[in-house]
Amino acid sequence: MECDILIIGAGAAGLFCAGSAQAQGARVVVMDHATRPAEKIRISGGGRCNFTNLATSRERFLSANPRFCASALAAYSPQDFVALVDQAGIAWHEKTLGQLFCDGKATQITEMLIRRMEGAELWLETTLNGLTRGADGFIAQTSRGVVRAGCVVVASGAKSIPKMGATGLGYDLARQFGLDIVETRPGLVPLTFAEQDLALCKPLAGLSVEAEIRHGKTRFRDALLFTHRGLSGPAVLQISSYWQPGDTVEIDLCPGADLAAALRDRRGQGGRVAVGTVLSAHLPARLAEAVTADLGLTGARLADQNNKTLDGIAARIHRWQVRPVGSEGYRTAEVTVGGVDTRGLDARTMQARDAPGLYFIGECVDVTGWLGGYNFQWAWASAHAAGVSL
Ligand code: FDA
Repeated sequence: MECDILIIGAGAAGLFCAGSAQAQGARVVVMDHATRPAEKIRISGGGRCNFTNLATSRERFLSANPRFCASALAAYSPQDFVALVDQAGIAWHEKTLGQLFCDGKATQITEMLIRRMEGAELWLETTLNGLTRGADGFIAQTSRGVVRAGCVVVASGAKSIPKMGATGLGYDLARQFGLDIVETRPGLVPLTFAEQDLALCKPLAGLSVEAEIRHGKTRFRDALLFTHRGLSGPAVLQISSYWQPGDTVEIDLCPGADLAAALRDRRGQGGRVAVGTVLSAHLPARLAEAVTADLGLTGARLADQNNKTLDGIAARIHRWQVRPVGSEGYRTAEVTVGGVDTRGLDARTMQARDAPGLYFIGECVDVTGWLGGYNFQWAWASAHAAGVSL
């Protein structure tokens, strides 16, 4: 069969691109090997899809080429997507920090995208067996037969959550057509510790505290969750996208406080109070207990501690240095950092510079957003850039 545009991947970016291209009057086929489209939208945002973030700007994305995403993000804004959501009558709310979620189910977003691409063909359970360049475009060998397409848009996502159908197809196609790949790694993922470093975390598994977590100049203040294997929670997921094996991260378990001063003040007031009791005024009691135990100060009286010890206690809480041994990996990572090297793509259209007619959009590109709706906004914006230029 013949079409103008073959889109590989019926996820967030692929469906959105189909709608934009369809509106230009193109004959569009979207193919996906999965049984259902956009499975990641269905499970996103705890089932309510954090579909955009009002604070979107290029600084909230990681990429070897940090300026690349600016043009597409400027051409399709969070407000543009909100207008679509409103038009579709989907109720939404702002949770925190500009994060917009559906009031109801995430699948409302998928249904909206499917309606928007009406007229395009959606081929599920279809595999791509090969893609080559033909006389006027591309020839795709698929499990439904040969497709001749003027243009091909690769929207096959990245490596996160292989159980949901994630593959490295986008990277293979990029390499085949001469594009480079920026090395990939799991992002927005819990971090894991070596057994000897788990002494503090394991007994606290399940406890969540507000923390500030730092890696170089990057810092996030949000919830941190202790787990049996290390650390999770939004603050940790955010920093995980920046962390690389061998790196140390610094954690402030009591941000905004000055514990050294507070401990000295309290000691100056006299009495027989224990160090742990004073700390539990600033930290959850379980954490205060675990930190005092870790420092060998269980039951120790504050009055018996010199300034050096008090500074050591404060440093342990405000500047806890941890060196994760790894992450939970692609099995649970929300995104993949790295991907198709943007130096090979036109920032306004997502077209491969050296392979006219071939486009890469969404998560397979080396543009990775922070937690909080940024990754979907990139999917919409990059898909729009390609869709309107086709
Ligand atoms: P996406 O992965 O959505 O789609 C790719 C499609 O290609 C899939 O349908 C897949 O089946 C298909 N495909 C892959 N290989 C193929 C092959 N070989 N042949 C044919 N088809 C193939 N982001 C956000 O902004 N807000 C949020 O709330 C969340 N929440 C969230 C929760 C969880 C648990 C995860 C894992 C991820 C998120 N994300 C998120 C991230 C977000 O889901 C992600 O960035 C987008 O889905 C990326 O959209 P794409 O269309 O690029 O890939």
